Amino acid sequence: MPDLAFVNGTVTLLEEAVIPIRDRGFLLADGVYEVLRCYDGHIFEVEPHLDRLEGSLRGIGMRLPVSRRKLRQLLEELRRRSGHADARLYVQVTRGVAPRQHAFPRHARPSLVVYVEGVPRPRATIAGKGVAAITLRDWRWERCDLKTIALLANVLAKQRAVEAGAHEAIFVGPDGSVREGSSANVFAVRGREVWTHPLGPAILPGVSRAVLLRLARELGLRVRERRFGRRQLYAADEVLLSSTMQEVLPVVRIDGRPIGSGRPGPVARALGERFRDRARGAGSGGRRT
Ligand code: PDD
Repeated sequence: MPDLAFVNGTVTLLEEAVIPIRDRGFLLADGVYEVLRCYDGHIFEVEPHLDRLEGSLRGIGMRLPVSRRKLRQLLEELRRRSGHADARLYVQVTRGVAPRQHAFPRHARPSLVVYVEGVPRPRATIAGKGVAAITLRDWRWERCDLKTIALLANVLAKQRAVEAGAHEAIFVGPDGSVREGSSANVFAVRGREVWTHPLGPAILPGVSRAVLLRLARELGLRVRERRFGRRQLYAADEVLLSSTMQEVLPVVRIDGRPIGSGRPGPVARALGERFRDRARGAGSGGRRT
């Protein structure tokens, strides 16, 4: 089954898709993106992803280049044509092709790129064993709520984690608060409470974060969107990551210290199971989140 790309109206095989080098996304990282996950042919939480895309575009002075309905149809159509039941959908909107200059071009048309690629089911093994993380100073800019394609700070942080033998890098703000990972939101579990950094410019409003918090409430856990520091992170019973592609992932070691028992805990297991049920059930007439 082919991985497919849509670039400004043309559909090709993903590996054959090209963009002009003067696209401002390529030259200046002047654009925003979304990553969506498709389970059994159904896109999970499509509306929240489109809401966030529109919010990111507003934040950089742009609008969707096609109607929201059209974009949704395009996502569904490309997914259907690919034949992949389990897939990652990537959407990117940039300020278009123009001579390289920093100020917005007067006449450029925004570029819209969508692609779909098949993905294996998330590996049960890493969720089952948990992962290690490191912490580091947040060296990103002050609008982390916008999902922009300027990801170098995230890339370098993730690489630091990999070089330290860890899976994720967790950013700690100048106020000492634990913010989020390089590509996931972060949660600390203390007793029956789940803590996570409040929404605002310091973190991405994760779509999976919202799902996880809803599920936590359903499980009778108390959700507290509050600031907490490194020490509280180390002392948590459990630490979790959430993202579209990784779902709910337990963190069992941070900066070399074991978290809780050093193994995935009951909250991670319960939330992970519920998340997967919800994601797989959402399209098949099952419960909606
Ligand atoms: N990353 N925080 C950051 C910095 C992220 O890049 C992501 C997602 C998240 C989780 O958001 P969501 O639950 O909506 O996927 C949090 C995507 C998946 C990526 O860049 O690949």
